[in-house]
Amino acid sequence: MSLRRAKITAVSHYLPERRVTNQELAQTVDTSDEWIFERTGIRERRVIAKGQATSDLAAKAARQVLEKRGIDATEIDLIIVATVTPDMLFPSAACLVQMKIGAKNAWGFDLSGACSGFVYALATGSQFIRTGTHRKVLIIGADVMTSILNYEDRATCVLFGDGAGAVLLEPAEEGESGILDFVLRSDGEGGQFLYMPAGGSLNPASAETVQKNMHSVHQNGKNVFKFAVRGMCEVSQEILERNHFTAQDLKLYIPHQANLRIIRAAMEKLQLDDSRVAINIDKYANTTAATIPICLSEASESKRIIKNDLILMASFGAGFTSGSVLLRWEI
Ligand code: UT7
Repeated sequence: MSLRRAKITAVSHYLPERRVTNQELAQTVDTSDEWIFERTGIRERRVIAKGQATSDLAAKAARQVLEKRGIDATEIDLIIVATVTPDMLFPSAACLVQMKIGAKNAWGFDLSGACSGFVYALATGSQFIRTGTHRKVLIIGADVMTSILNYEDRATCVLFGDGAGAVLLEPAEEGESGILDFVLRSDGEGGQFLYMPAGGSLNPASAETVQKNMHSVHQNGKNVFKFAVRGMCEVSQEILERNHFTAQDLKLYIPHQANLRIIRAAMEKLQLDDSRVAINIDKYANTTAATIPICLSEASESKRIIKNDLILMASFGAGFTSGSVLLRWEI
């Protein structure tokens, strides 16, 4: 069996309209624009409208991808939605997206990889293309983090925002490279440092779990920070080395957007300057599984990346999870 590489043939993103600035947050939480910007690089974030949910953002990004590629939703074979904030525990956000966009011939599932969700999903989806069993796979990273924030915890509520990004994967043509390689890791020992304690089978929802604020993000920021720098650098360096590239060969490095100081530390280690790194955390904060596809979509829209450019995506998140994907842009 000859294996065909997968390539991205379209990308898009969707962000809710409502902007919430640091100043606005500072009116209700004991924080300031100075603290948030200096410690994280965030200026504002987007927040969904009442009644909207993750599958709505995901479906909007997906529809735009189909439009850009000029294909009908019925041509899609598989939908993978990377998210930690599905509309509900079940059915999956993927099934809801399938219904909303009318992808009648697709099956799909959600992938829980937190901030590495999109990288995990891209690697997973590319395997279905590579084996030749699927020809059109939608990969979506979408999160509504504002649905699981405790707005009395200033250490977490200022860090996140809502958004979605999507790509279409198809087989690469003869002579094209597409997705070259990926490195994926998990370290369950890190679970204790970033998690949502209730709402699952361990602590089902009860008046007590609500009262104790257990349905929101709990984080040991200092610990996560330390592991994030190390983890993101490791998966970046490993994939470059084993494919015989250096960071200087990259047109664009797309790191997960959790904290500008984490991104800067990775840039220093990889010896990359701003001209080669995607940064939009100032506008959208941390949108978890959506940060990387949103960066990719913005880079494509602005023609910052063009055909044949070498791109490296790298992520680190709850789990702990980390991962990198190396690819050539083929659009
Ligand atoms: O994408 C998922 C992965 N997540 C991450 O990568 C997050 C990694 N961690 C971080 O980005 C940083 O650790 C944070 C931004 C979360 C926190 O920054 P930090 O420099 O590690 O601050 P800290 O937690 O050590 O807190 C320093 C001080 C504390 O006050 P005291 O104890 O020194 O008096 C906090 O109470 O800053 C205080 N603080 C705040 N002050 C104003 C914490 N949050 C805020 C706030 N506004 N929002």
